[in-house]
Amino acid sequence: MKVLILGASGLVGGNCLHHFMEQGAECLGTHFSFATDETVYFNTLALDDPQNGEVIAFNPDVIVHCGALTWVDYCEENPEESYEKTVQSTKNAVDLAESLQAKLVYLSTDYVFDGKRGFYVETDEVNPLSIYGNHKLEAEQIVQRFEDHLICRITNVYGNEVRGKNFIARLVSNMRKGDAMDLKLPIDQYATPVNAYDVARAIYLLLTDGHTGIFHFAGTDYLNRVQLAERIIRYFGHEQVRLSAVTTDELNPPATRPLNGGMSAAKFNALYPHFKWSNVDDYLKQLNELS
Ligand SMILES: NC(=O)c1ccc[n+]([C@@H]2O[C@H](COP(=O)([O-])OP(=O)(O)OC[C@H]3O[C@@H](n4cnc5c(N)ncnc54)[C@H](OP(=O)(O)O)[C@@H]3O)[C@@H](O)[C@H]2O)c1
Repeated sequence: MKVLILGASGLVGGNCLHHFMEQGAECLGTHFSFATDETVYFNTLALDDPQNGEVIAFNPDVIVHCGALTWVDYCEENPEESYEKTVQSTKNAVDLAESLQAKLVYLSTDYVFDGKRGFYVETDEVNPLSIYGNHKLEAEQIVQRFEDHLICRITNVYGNEVRGKNFIARLVSNMRKGDAMDLKLPIDQYATPVNAYDVARAIYLLLTDGHTGIFHFAGTDYLNRVQLAERIIRYFGHEQVRLSAVTTDELNPPATRPLNGGMSAAKFNALYPHFKWSNVDDYLKQLNELS
């Protein structure tokens, strides 16, 4: 299998690149602004960018599109840029997949839901509350018009990544440095954090077996942000870390959040009953052993 991974300098794309190569797939991963030793430049915003040539010549069987602007509050305040980087970039990825007759994998989010229910299944009604959620949904709908696709919805992703910029990685890194920290976190935003490595493993299985359609992925935790930080503090905390629980209303972020978010991976689990989803403790134990 030849796989092109758009956005392999990021969290999910980087894990896909490593795992797929370990499995024997021929892979090409791309970056945009953050060059790495393992990736080549590709701009999803302008397919005719002369520097895109090498990637198009790779002629993949599968394109995994991880390129996006994932900063939810920034998207709320910059809707045109959000549209460009999520909807337009996905239209371009679909055009590329069509022209190369490749399958397209798109990564989406529980922000397509309104957070009234939690543990969302693939058939639940969507109702995004934010610009980011609306644009991710619009991108999903564009992908769905292309027959050979997989849409994998995920939330609160953590794991190993070259820039260590996800929530868990940042907190662990700051606590390891012994930095004083005053954390004010929402106690009413629940989700199912998932390790990017599990996301990569799950996508690889679905690709190998030729599945199409929407799949929800989830780790085995259901946690709010305060509980998530408490887990990290249990392993890496020190006396200078102070944690206060606030409500989302008190924080008043620019973008409205789905409060009872999170996914049920039941559809995936029915296909792969022996697949082991890991949890935040597994990851923190692993990091702790390395320190
Ligand atoms: N992280 C989460 O908690 C989460 C939750 C739900 C859904 N998702 C979805 O999962 C996908 C991957 O997220 P992630 O957390 O891995 O994001 P990430 O770490 O921020 O990575 C995003 C990737 O997109 C690339 N990119 C950005 N603009 C690009 C452009 N114009 N052309 C080509 N590549 C471009 C970035 O490249 P450079 O960095 O090199 O510029 C980076 O490699 C996204 O679609 C996101 O919406 C993530």
